Parts: sequence; structure tokens; C-alpha cells
Amino acid sequence: MEIDVTLNGVERTFEAERSDSLLDVLRRNGYTGAKRGCDTGNCGFCTVAVDGEPERSCIKPVATIDGTDIETIEGLGSQDDLHPVQAAFVDNAALQCGFCIPGMIMQSRSLLAENPDPTEAEIREALSENLCRCTGYEKIIDAVQDAAGRMGEEGVATDGGLVRGTDE
Ligand code: FES
Ligand code: FES
Repeated sequence: MEIDVTLNGVERTFEAERSDSLLDVLRRNGYTGAKRGCDTGNCGFCTVAVDGEPERSCIKPVATIDGTDIETIEGLGSQDDLHPVQAAFVDNAALQCGFCIPGMIMQSRSLLAENPDPTEAEIREALSENLCRCTGYEKIIDAVQDAAGRMGEEGVATDGGLVRGTDE
């Protein structure tokens, strides 16, 4: 079967088997930012955004994504121009092995898009189903609080881009 999606702002067509998950299709086509951890929807390592909502791509049947708008970690910043959430994770040393981080960042970004100034409790709740075996979570919470501050700064929209009118 063929699947037509918008992936990180680009219209793409992918070949897929009916039994594939979204994660299968992404990774087979070179989008390896979303990680395969549990493969059962329980760790959050594979989180991407589908039509703006965070989704566990390992349990998202590919047949349900035709026509959707998908964003992966590759669609955020670049190595030389990190998205504010990515920059906050780096600056707060909120990663060790890094395996959970793409999912953490995608989940955090969705939280901040909906709630630009979350409390610590709201951050913990939003990330409660994203697991990390390394960091103890404290620095991750610090990073999301830092990211909220950065994204609240003048000229940075809640999606991490520039507010219209400030890029001139
Ligand atoms: S790999 Fe998808 S939730 Fe764990
Ligand atoms: S940094 Fe290693 S699992 Fe989170």
C-alpha cells in the first residue's frame, strides 16, 4: 500500500505493509530520530507528532496515517540551529545515553504548545509516561522549565519558530 503524508513540512509518499507501524515506516525511510524501545506503547521513546498531537509511533498503525501531518525530531532544529526545547535539554545536561531524548523533546514540545507556562507538576504529569533509565528526571524537568522561559521570550513562537513580524 502507499501512504501519502506531510512529513516535517514536505509531502511524501511511502510504501508500507498493512502490518507496519508508523515507526516501522519512519525508520525504514531514514527517519531514525524516533527510537524503538519497548515497541508496545509503554516507553515513549518513539513519540512523534501526528496532526499536532503526540503519538507513540510504534503502535500507530500505518493505515491510520494517510493524509496526516507528521513531525519528527528531525523536523525541529538543526545541529547549528537548535529548537529552543532541544537547546534547553543540552544546556541543562538533561541527557545521558540520549535514547529517550527525541521522545522526551517531542512530548515536551507538545506540552509547551498547549501550555506555555506549565507548573512543575504539569510537566511531570505530561512526561509521566516517557521513561528514562539514566537521568533521574530532575534535569529533564529543569530543561522543560527552561524551554518554557526561552519560548516565552519575545520573538519565539510556541512552536519554536519566529513570531510573525519579528523576523524582519
Ligand atoms: S517504542 Fe514506542 S512507546 Fe516504547
Ligand atoms: S538519557 Fe538514557 S534513557 Fe534517558
